[in-house]
Amino acid sequence: MAEQARRNYSIAVMPGDGTGPEVIREAVKALNAAADREGFQLEYVTYDLGGDRYLRTGEILPPSVLEELKGFKAILLGAIGHPQVKPGILEKGLLLELRFQLDQYINLRPVVLYPGVSTPLKDKGPEDIDFIVVRENTEGLYTGSGGFLKKGTPQEVAIQESINTRAGVERCIRYAFDCCRRRARKNTLLLCGKTNVLTYAFDLWERTFREVAREYPEIKAEYAHVDATCMWMVKNPEWFDVIVTDNMFGDIITDLGAMIQGGMGIAAGGNINPQGVSMFEPIGGSAPKYTGKNIINPLAAIAAAQMLLDHLGEEGAAARVERAIKKVVQDDVKDLGAGRMGHSTTEVGDLAAKYIFEF
Ligand code: IPM
Ligand code: MN
Repeated sequence: MAEQARRNYSIAVMPGDGTGPEVIREAVKALNAAADREGFQLEYVTYDLGGDRYLRTGEILPPSVLEELKGFKAILLGAIGHPQVKPGILEKGLLLELRFQLDQYINLRPVVLYPGVSTPLKDKGPEDIDFIVVRENTEGLYTGSGGFLKKGTPQEVAIQESINTRAGVERCIRYAFDCCRRRARKNTLLLCGKTNVLTYAFDLWERTFREVAREYPEIKAEYAHVDATCMWMVKNPEWFDVIVTDNMFGDIITDLGAMIQGGMGIAAGGNINPQGVSMFEPIGGSAPKYTGKNIINPLAAIAAAQMLLDHLGEEGAAARVERAIKKVVQDDVKDLGAGRMGHSTTEVGDLAAKYIFEF
């Protein structure tokens, strides 16, 4: 009988700036350990993009690279952001450009507190902090729509518009309902908005939400304003199951989410195009002051690798990575902060890879 073809996935790796390359090295170790153990193959192509490339050559995202990226099964991204590059250039030219051009219309950000990790929330534990934020990732305030009038004069006007399309809002809301159904936990989807002030944008969101909700009768569809959502995330995080929200609110509440799950050392996210190429990243940024010191926590990048595996349909491998992360935070690291782990970046990566293979 012919041997069954081995599963083989091509992955684009973009280590990026600052500590990005250090954490991505460990994430790739984790991916390789999972692939070896579960019997599939990963092939990597590394792309040198980010602040250094920009300072060296002036290039941010060459069109040919963008075209090539469309041919991969997934992208693993380290971090974008360079102290010598003016804020906004790399963020807009590279990170947001990738999200937009690859139409990664969902930014998926799980907020999970693992046993052994400390949260700043008093009297809250792992049983209380386990939800997922579905952030719209291609519209809202992020499109760059707007402009200046009379710039630099006392009469200057700056306009930044939130663009919300019915199609864009609806596909995001549908994804969130599906995500909630698949999770099968509390069957509660919360729309986080601001219908009391943003009476156009969130009117569209809420109407769409109510309409789509009719197709998911088993899911409780709830609504909260974004300010109240922040309050409940601190006071009663156990109320949440899945939260769906726009790009800007999603950006803000997921930093709050990262903090209650133990910080940037552990928080990961996926930029998802369910019909195209998705990109996974630790959400902590490039942390320039820790660059090259081998003290940054690679677990967020490893958690991004876990999400990538899940996305490939390699659920067994993803489960292995999650178990390994849980074991490292339970048994090995003292603290998740850079320089406070009691281990180096490479040691944490080695431990994770070992556990992925062994357990
Ligand atoms: C994030 C980041 C980005 C965002 C920045 C770097 C453009 O904060 O991924 O949350 O605002 O989306
Ligand atoms: Mn952010």
